[in-house]
Amino acid sequence: MASGHSGRGAVAVVDAAGKTAGYPKTRRIRFRFGEDRTYGKYFVNDDIVFSHFVAGLSAAFPPGEESFIRSVRSFADHITDPTLKKRVAGFIGQESMHGQEHRRLNEKLVEKGYRIEWWDSKPWKERQIRFEQRIPSRMHLAMTAAAEHYTAVLAERVLANDEIQAIPGDSEVWNLLNWHALEELEHKSVAFDVYRAVGGSERARIAVMVALIALTIPLTATSLAVSLARDPVARRQPVRLVRETYAQLRGPLFKGLFSDLAKYLRPGFHPDDIDTTALLKRWQTELFGANGALVDHLK
Ligand SMILES: [Fe+2]
Ligand SMILES: [Fe+2]
Repeated sequence: MASGHSGRGAVAVVDAAGKTAGYPKTRRIRFRFGEDRTYGKYFVNDDIVFSHFVAGLSAAFPPGEESFIRSVRSFADHITDPTLKKRVAGFIGQESMHGQEHRRLNEKLVEKGYRIEWWDSKPWKERQIRFEQRIPSRMHLAMTAAAEHYTAVLAERVLANDEIQAIPGDSEVWNLLNWHALEELEHKSVAFDVYRAVGGSERARIAVMVALIALTIPLTATSLAVSLARDPVARRQPVRLVRETYAQLRGPLFKGLFSDLAKYLRPGFHPDDIDTTALLKRWQTELFGANGALVDHLK
């Protein structure tokens, strides 16, 4: 493999060099949204801010993941390493399934009153594609590699932190998030390794992440604020919103997030430097082992 890293993933195989290599595996899955009636509109712990945040994240995934796929696919012909080719196929398969299931959840969220349709609208998609065509393909790929570090950091937090797992919420949304988090860890180094394999520089990789980190706070804050402002129930409870926002920033999902993201800025960094193998194994068994919690969701 180009990087010499194992690309720890779902299916462990021993390559010709005797090293363990892994291909992310595409699981065909279908969630049953809407069956859990414990919650109303605020499906995460009856928390307005947290629910809007998760709804926004879910809305951003389908178009975002399609962009990730386009960035990697544009280099598909340049990849000669057979292992990396297989990992790319696994990456594309997993990301398309994520988009598909998040879209199904997003439809339910729109029914609940979340104004998130614009994320997946035609004009927005066209704008995104025009932007991608204007920047160098390698920069688009560097953006994907950086975004994949974001998702891997969030995924590790979600799966490793008992406090996060204990947050009450719609059970099927939790299943979706755990499945998505697991697969993000399985393919976390694929886009990165493609970037390296096609000669992407360290300087550009790091610069792109600096820009992405700088944009994260204003973009997240603005889209969350807009989402809350369009919710009449939220508008009537400003004090609650401040309290919930404060709790969110101090909570296990966001506390220390930037230092985890900043690990990517170290020259020579590789996603597999953060060893998530044991965590992956545990969750692969928990969700998709012989008695796995989501085996009955597989198609
Ligand atoms: Fe994904
Ligand atoms: Fe991903």
